[in-house]
Amino acid sequence: MSVVALVPAAGRGERLGYGMPKALVPVNGVPLLTRAVQGLFASGQVQHVVIAAPPSDVDLVHTATASLAPAGGAVHVLSGGAERTDSVRLALEHALSVIPDTSIVLVHDAARAFTPPQVIADVVAAVRDGHDAVIPVLPVADTIKQVDEVGVVVSTPDRAGLRVVQTPQGFRAETLKAAYCSGIAATDDAGLVEKNGGKVHTVPGHAHAMKITTPFDLAVAEALFAGEQA
Ligand code: C5P
Repeated sequence: MSVVALVPAAGRGERLGYGMPKALVPVNGVPLLTRAVQGLFASGQVQHVVIAAPPSDVDLVHTATASLAPAGGAVHVLSGGAERTDSVRLALEHALSVIPDTSIVLVHDAARAFTPPQVIADVVAAVRDGHDAVIPVLPVADTIKQVDEVGVVVSTPDRAGLRVVQTPQGFRAETLKAAYCSGIAATDDAGLVEKNGGKVHTVPGHAHAMKITTPFDLAVAEALFAGEQA
């Protein structure tokens, strides 16, 4: 019964403007992808990591991450797809074909490189407890407005019922497979499960699981983790 983490890391990272795929951008000398994979294994719950790498960097990513796996585990690297969903689909197909006892699947963005291992362990624990799909979430600090196509406010949803969604998102392997086979489109993996009629459970996320998207996010990460031992 293996827990397998799929790591979509094939994005070009254009909003970061660093001139290289975002997953390979270093923070205090360590690439985001390396940090994300280290965090998954540090949770003590993950045996296999399947990385969807930028197509031009498959060999580089393999060399950089192969030694991170604990005894009995492995890091698998394949070429990612055009969109994040394509990368996740390819990684899922790979996991289900080469890791025969895959029972729980996590999907974790390389861009959420500083996710605390405890959050990862909490997601796995909730799936083990019987939830088909589990996502880490945070309360919404800002008021959110829904606007029309010209920017005029049409409604103000009650903030108390809104959550910001992070990764890793955790699934029973069969649940995620069914969602990806359904042909439905959604912006996150739990959204696929939800649209496919599944129930999605939430656990507390963490501010450090922020997605690094812009140069500002990178500067925040550099500052937050400046004092760490590399
Ligand atoms: O671009 P964004 O930050 O939303 O991407 C989220 C995650 O999906 C990143 O870790 C990125 O590398 C990954 N991704 C991917 N394949 C793509 C596009 C994005 O694996 N084609």
